Amino acid sequence: MTPSLLRRSILVTALTCLGAAACGSSSANSNPGGSTGGSAGDSGGGGLGGDTGGVVVDGRLAEKYSEFFPVGAAVSAWHLENTASILEEHFNHLAAENAMKAGLVHPAEDTFNWDEADAIADFARERGMTMTGHTLLWHRQQPSWMFQGLTAEDPDSIEILKERLKSHIEAMVERYGDVVTNWDVVNEAISDDGSKVYRDEGSDWYRIFGSHEYIYWAFHYAKEALEAQEPGSSAGKLYYNDYNITLKVDQILEMLAWLEEEKGLKIDGVGDQAHYRIDWPPTSEISRAYDKILAAGYKLKVSELDVSLYNDYPSGSFEPAPEVEFTPALEAQQAARYGALFELFRSYAPDLTSVTVWGITDDRTWLDNEPVSGRNDHPLLWTDDKEPKAALGAIMDF
Ligand code: GLA
Repeated sequence: MTPSLLRRSILVTALTCLGAAACGSSSANSNPGGSTGGSAGDSGGGGLGGDTGGVVVDGRLAEKYSEFFPVGAAVSAWHLENTASILEEHFNHLAAENAMKAGLVHPAEDTFNWDEADAIADFARERGMTMTGHTLLWHRQQPSWMFQGLTAEDPDSIEILKERLKSHIEAMVERYGDVVTNWDVVNEAISDDGSKVYRDEGSDWYRIFGSHEYIYWAFHYAKEALEAQEPGSSAGKLYYNDYNITLKVDQILEMLAWLEEEKGLKIDGVGDQAHYRIDWPPTSEISRAYDKILAAGYKLKVSELDVSLYNDYPSGSFEPAPEVEFTPALEAQQAARYGALFELFRSYAPDLTSVTVWGITDDRTWLDNEPVSGRNDHPLLWTDDKEPKAALGAIMDF
């Protein structure tokens, strides 16, 4: 530890529990995250706590990383209200946790609900921060009007859906194009089933189109909308975003090759959601996936980082783990994991173009409700009480 880190309550010695092996990993091939969540709720509180947090951090996170990449946080209106000083001190990039998703921002065909998304974008603009545009197309948190009256694989229905998608994307790009430096144009279109490339499970996009063609149209419309604002301004901004990237990398590359070779549209990069576990995936596997993506000519970003304490897939199928106390030893293990991840991320700069953490304080995380409802996780960099955690110290310590 550097002298800049004065410990108040963490057992530094526990930081020696570094690798997955030392800390008790599960099989690297077990399903790490399952499907990621789509709920807008993200409350926590209650449950088992622990005597953690209280690290005194000298310095500002984004400033410390200024020569590597912007450091972002996913936020809601609650965060603007309750964690503004943390955001101002430590971050130079934001993503809207939910507010820019079509289901929230565009609840009816002729109705936009801009309030929360505008508040986040204005907060960023006023402080010279940039943003991730999350997300233009996803199979979850979509408004029902988008698919209303449409028939699967019917050519007229496909045309109507294309028009709806186009006007949604145009509205988003017009409103936030000035502050968004990278768009999650398409989110999670790759199947969880490794024997096929494209997600058909639970996707109305796939169902109506009868294929993965919608992916092309989303990128095409996003590119057109950006170019219409200013020629050349789509450059570097078009990303595909997904989870379990270490498992899905070959499928993702197949999709990117299809876009590039068959549709003539080369996008800019891949967002690794990075909803990681404390013991999975190993950094060597992350690195392997990143190397493949870079070798294929795409940039990277880390778009939704959090580090869960739980392995609910110990042998491949879902077996919910019981809630554990977040002890100082566990916090130190998590800190070591965060430290190793950021060391890896730094080694990929500047091809890794941003790192965004999915929240600020541990009391506001989707992981308290997914995949197990009401189980406290502690996946972020600040405690419920807005105290810096050892994880923050670890990523500042280089
Ligand atoms: C996915 C989505 C995010 C968020 C998380 C969990 O990763 O991309 O927007 O919904 O699930 O909350």
